[in-house]
Amino acid sequence: MHAVRAIAAVSLVALGVSAALPQAFAAERPTVDLTKMTPPDFSKVGDDAFGKLVKYGHALFTDTANQIGPNAADPAKRYSGNQLTCQNCHMQGGAQAYAVPMVGIWGEFPQYRPREGEVGTLEERVNGCMQRSMNGRVLPLDSREMKAFLAYAKWLSAGIPVEAKLVGASLLPIKDPARAVDLKHGAQVYAQNCASCHGVDGQGVRAENGKSYQFPPLWGPDSYNDGAGMTRVLTLASFAKYNMPAGVTFQSPALSDEDAYDVGGYVNSQVRPHKADLDKDFPIRLQKPVDTGYGPYADGFGIEQHKFGPFGPIRAKVKELREQSNGH
Ligand code: HEC
Ligand code: HEC
Repeated sequence: MHAVRAIAAVSLVALGVSAALPQAFAAERPTVDLTKMTPPDFSKVGDDAFGKLVKYGHALFTDTANQIGPNAADPAKRYSGNQLTCQNCHMQGGAQAYAVPMVGIWGEFPQYRPREGEVGTLEERVNGCMQRSMNGRVLPLDSREMKAFLAYAKWLSAGIPVEAKLVGASLLPIKDPARAVDLKHGAQVYAQNCASCHGVDGQGVRAENGKSYQFPPLWGPDSYNDGAGMTRVLTLASFAKYNMPAGVTFQSPALSDEDAYDVGGYVNSQVRPHKADLDKDFPIRLQKPVDTGYGPYADGFGIEQHKFGPFGPIRAKVKELREQSNGH
């Protein structure tokens, strides 16, 4: 096993792509700025076997509910459980910076995942969103659908070295206020900035053909479940500040950090589907993000403060406990 990897490394060096070697081999990781990149041109995807799979992956990503969700013709292919599409959150087909883009992720996996407490593959990460954001079930690893998601992610990542440091990946964090969420203010922010599209009742607006959504729901039976990353207030606040209302990008935020924090708390105080076995997440409890809204916790703070802050005291306690456990 080790020998095989060493040979692979040598042949890569011979090809002159030392910058593309995994961290274990290369001291310096190249930086790639996704905010300055033009995504690859979808109209140029060919009709060979790989191109066909990329096209299918794009269809799954942008039309999930109709392809592999509740509206799929074949009941066996109804993997996702709600009417969301991947690009409702991974915006612009997964190409929008700071909207958890898929650009470059091909070279970032396998990676250590705190939620599972072990190294996970890109397939497992896709299935994480299938079971949580899509409130559904896992795609079989050998399914054409899983291969299509991988092909699509690989195509979007073309030219980006493995293990690159990506600027514009994931979400741009807000600076959370040193206070708990103000739910009353959150409701006002919601009414003024969100309800016109997502509905006063948060249930969204269906697409004209009655399938999927023009404006997706933010809570209720057709939304992501309570194990999804989006249910963490800082995740939702960061997403909302730099991507919402639709049309906003990280360069043109409309909400202040305070507004994003409060509206995030307000949205996440609403009822949504429940995922079983959440207590098994983050088996190393001190690696649990401070705003995870379900226990158990190792820091002595209760669910309420983990849901709605203030987060400063939790961070300080977690840091202290981590330092203590490292010292042993
Ligand atoms: C409700 C919003 C939402 C939907 C819908 C959603 N995701 Fe995600 N996804 C997220 C968030 C938020 C993260 C990252 C943050 C986290 O894990 O806390 C993420 C992370 C990911 C990652 C890892 C990205 C990285 O930077 O490491 C992949 C891959 C992914 N999602 C694939 C999918 C696929 C495929 C679908 C559709 C089947 C999907 N997601 C649907 C919200 C969503
Ligand atoms: C102008 C219409 C509009 C407004 C106003 C708006 N959104 Fe959205 N929102 C959208 C659309 C459209 C999407 C799906 C994006 C896509 O598919 O490209 C979306 C997606 C989302 C998502 C991820 C998908 C889901 O259903 O969970 C969240 C979370 C969200 N919006 C929160 C908010 C919040 C919070 C506000 C108010 C601060 C807001 N939005 C205001 C149109 C809007």
